[in-house]
Amino acid sequence: MPHAGIGAGVHAIWLIFGRTSLHWRRSNMRRSEAIFPTSIALRPSLLEPLDMTPSSFDRAPESVGNIVLLEHVNVTQTDQRVTSVFWLQGLGFTRDPYMHVSDGNMWVNIGRQQIHSPTRPPQVLRGTIGVLMPDLAVARAGLAAIGSKLAGTRFAWHDQGYVIDATCPWGNHVRCHAPQPRFGPMRLGIPYVELPVARGSAAGIARFYEQIMRAPVRLETAAGLASAHVCAGAHQEIIYRESDAEIAAYDGHHIALYVADFAGPHAELKRRGLISEESDQWQYRFEKIVDPDSGTHLFTLEHEVRSLTHPLFARPLVNRNPLQQQGAYTPGQDAFF
Ligand SMILES: [Fe+2]
Repeated sequence: MPHAGIGAGVHAIWLIFGRTSLHWRRSNMRRSEAIFPTSIALRPSLLEPLDMTPSSFDRAPESVGNIVLLEHVNVTQTDQRVTSVFWLQGLGFTRDPYMHVSDGNMWVNIGRQQIHSPTRPPQVLRGTIGVLMPDLAVARAGLAAIGSKLAGTRFAWHDQGYVIDATCPWGNHVRCHAPQPRFGPMRLGIPYVELPVARGSAAGIARFYEQIMRAPVRLETAAGLASAHVCAGAHQEIIYRESDAEIAAYDGHHIALYVADFAGPHAELKRRGLISEESDQWQYRFEKIVDPDSGTHLFTLEHEVRSLTHPLFARPLVNRNPLQQQGAYTPGQDAFF
């Protein structure tokens, strides 16, 4: 806090660099108002006028609610060779070097998110795993190079220009995006998982997440079909999109969420008989999504719900720079930044 005897010029410097505390603002308001009009201050980075009146900011879009992080998608597989070729060579992601390094499971790091792939009969997520990478050219080149290695599997890909749709060897649909304002500052990660649901169920699913999971939900409608966009962390969503197409049977795959209020949703899920697994002190699971008003079962997707005190929360994940190649090696550029 500036000394009371410091002149107006010093106060102006503090205001420009945004280092004003609430206390300082209270105790020096009359002095700062003498420097700038009440509703105008300077934007620290650009030194451009910025309207600072309280009504000029919409705070709601910045509230993520209770789900802090959509952290991983778990889909099993039976052959780490072809699974690795797809996720690591084809899409340019990174195998977790520290956890599950043998053949019983493999974790693939994608920014702050992961794909978990235990070695068991393969599962297919009913919908789409959205992935984000700095440059789609990496996936374009990688996927073009792996076709012969994945012959006889369900591998396929289609370059739509603005996105690349790929099917993993086991049938999981992955949509690759380049960074864009829709995903905020994220450049590498899993910004969304999208699931098809029956016509008429999106509103009830929205109520489930709002009332039980305590997450903000945005409802949209297109061509008479609704979609519920559940906020699942900063710039992350779980999207339930209504569809008239037949929805495949559920095979046991799961998503993992970290939540700020861990006990609150647990109590409500338990009261409704929806807890499917009490995993440990920091994790429980549920599978059924119901309309909280009627109790109607609307969709099945196992959720692995973890507390922020879970030992794995915010664990640093290693991500490589897929452009680094032995034949054109650049010292110091191994890691993704
Ligand atoms: Fe999991």
